[in-house]
Amino acid sequence: MEFCDLKKQYLAYKPEIDRAMQGVIDSTSFINGQEIELLEEDLSTFSGAKHAIACSSGTDALLLALMALDVQPGDEIICPAFSFIASASMISLLKAKPVFIDVSPLDYNIDPTKIEEKLTSRTRGIIAVSLFGQCANFKAINKIAEKNGIWVLEDGAQSFGAIYDGKRSCSLTDVATTSFFPAKPLGCYGDGGAVFTSDDKLAAKIKMIRSHGQEKRYVHKRIGINGRMDTLQAAIVRVKLKHFEEEIVTRQVAALKYSELLEGKVMLPEVTEDNISVWAQYTIGVENRDEVKAKLSDKGIPTAVHYPLILPAQEAFSDVVPMNEKFEVAQLLSESVLSLPMHGFITNQEIEEVAKAVIESI
Ligand SMILES: Cc1ncc(COP(=O)(O)O)c(C=O)c1O
Repeated sequence: MEFCDLKKQYLAYKPEIDRAMQGVIDSTSFINGQEIELLEEDLSTFSGAKHAIACSSGTDALLLALMALDVQPGDEIICPAFSFIASASMISLLKAKPVFIDVSPLDYNIDPTKIEEKLTSRTRGIIAVSLFGQCANFKAINKIAEKNGIWVLEDGAQSFGAIYDGKRSCSLTDVATTSFFPAKPLGCYGDGGAVFTSDDKLAAKIKMIRSHGQEKRYVHKRIGINGRMDTLQAAIVRVKLKHFEEEIVTRQVAALKYSELLEGKVMLPEVTEDNISVWAQYTIGVENRDEVKAKLSDKGIPTAVHYPLILPAQEAFSDVVPMNEKFEVAQLLSESVLSLPMHGFITNQEIEEVAKAVIESI
């Protein structure tokens, strides 16, 4: 059994993907070109954000967005304590300071009730990660930002395709980012990502920074990076985007089935009122997590721990986190979460096998 079965997915779309890749090779437009422009149009239409800017990875998408927002050394940026490192590390890379906030036990996303106490005169913005497939509480987060004159960035690396309050993830905030890492709900065959915004000026700035700060060829207006998306990856994402909604439905049906079988046995993932999750992960909570993981592995069932060490406890942030600061919910989650196999081609039989093995292991 695969944790995320990319082989099954490739075989299902093989003729279309092979044709799309061959098309790029035949055109020899390996950098930029029509596929990138078409992908950006497709992503904008799908997400509802006016601009989608394809780029080299979800991490670079964050860096491009933060650079375009003019994040400066010493600025403070709010971010969640329980997540993948990229959003917090890109803040640090720009010599700004990540200010960690505990997460909510309801959706495992940043807890908006704990943000305001951490705002200072140096706070510039909030990065809210929409973890495991469902959006953070953007009604509350956007309200705090508006009241305090700061921006909001949604890290939608795990939530692209999700719906919040009737709108798609990545169209809910000043700027948003996603990742097309192969195992993401919409993945490519290497690294890739995108930045989203409906602000024309910000979009133009992001595009410029993506291309070495170039205004026109060899004329550089600002410092930038090479943040371009590989054109072959764009062709692959365009094919997968056509099938994405069907895969989301499979994930949703799979999540319902897992919840039905595991109800009352483990801590189940909850989808909050305003959300339709894209189920990037189906993550349960169990007290004897490491034992359950090992027993499942013995039965040939792969699982993953997202994430075993909270961000404020990472050595990389030891200089920015006050000693003895507690992140109780994040800590509890890091000790108990376990992600089960989940992808757009998972079968009922596989789900039943996993659920049975979980119940036997707890
Ligand atoms: C929440 C989150 N943000 C950012 C990233 C970074 O994406 P990438 O691996 O494409 O750089 C990831 C990828 O794992 C992620 O899960």
